[in-house]
Amino acid sequence: MGVTNEQMIAFWNGPGGEAWATNADAQDRELQELGDAALGALAVASGASVLDVGCGAGTTTLTLAGRVGAGGRVVGVDVSAPVLAVARRRAAGVANVTFVQADAQTAALPGAPFDAVYSRFGLMFFDQPEAAFANLHRATAPSGRLAFVCWQATTANPWYDAPITALRGLPGVDLPPPLAPEEPGPFAFADPDRVAQILGAGGWQRTELQEYTDEIVDDLDRRVEFSLRQGPAARALAGAAPEVREVAATRMRDALAARLIDGRVRLARAAWIVTAQA
Ligand SMILES: C[S@@+](CC[C@H](N)C(=O)[O-])C[C@H]1O[C@@H](n2cnc3c(N)ncnc32)[C@H](O)[C@@H]1O
Repeated sequence: MGVTNEQMIAFWNGPGGEAWATNADAQDRELQELGDAALGALAVASGASVLDVGCGAGTTTLTLAGRVGAGGRVVGVDVSAPVLAVARRRAAGVANVTFVQADAQTAALPGAPFDAVYSRFGLMFFDQPEAAFANLHRATAPSGRLAFVCWQATTANPWYDAPITALRGLPGVDLPPPLAPEEPGPFAFADPDRVAQILGAGGWQRTELQEYTDEIVDDLDRRVEFSLRQGPAARALAGAAPEVREVAATRMRDALAARLIDGRVRLARAAWIVTAQA
């Protein structure tokens, strides 16, 4: 048994959620195009009711609210108090948005039934994904639609893998073991057959996965700084001695410098845009 929902909820109310809340603007810049691709696939109508699952700091919830207009409504659900605090601040004065702190795997979702369910990287953390997708299906109108974006395998995502690989074997750094392919976490939905099986078991029909690929193109200093602030390498270094941090930063810098082209670091990303019908 891998990570349980209770452990995941503790993580998102602890270091994971704190870091996401602190770095919300930077995360939004990183993820905007991927989230937009899933929004395009969902194509919500004006006046629709939408559920944004694992809504985090609420940027996509607010974008959805703009798309459905004053006659529509959007509920953002997330387990994490720190990210929801940012979301609520950002949404102050927006009438058609509500945020709910709840486990989307099990909670009766207020505001159901929804015409559409959306998520930007918020659906890969369930310990019982079939039950979670059945719960989302129950919250969706019979003609409703689902669209979300999730990562392909780590090997296709050096933006994630390169900084942490650079730290392997470094004394004084306690790296988490590599995630097993189906373990709850960012890469749990890498296998398209598994995604189709989970959605089918949850009652969803006509699941389709479309490949999304691009590159992060960034300044080397900024990328090192970002990798030291956010993600698994940053967490592994949280309690490290200053001299260990310094060696770690040098290693990361070297690893990222190996990916410089014309003075800019280029890091590939690969995701799935998944759609289904209720
Ligand atoms: C990678 S973050 C993405 C956040 C946001 N969608 C974004 O794109 O900025 C994943 C989010 O899923 C939330 N999450 C994880 N497990 C959840 C669950 N069981 N129910 C609801 N939200 C969950 C986390 O708290 C976190 O905010």
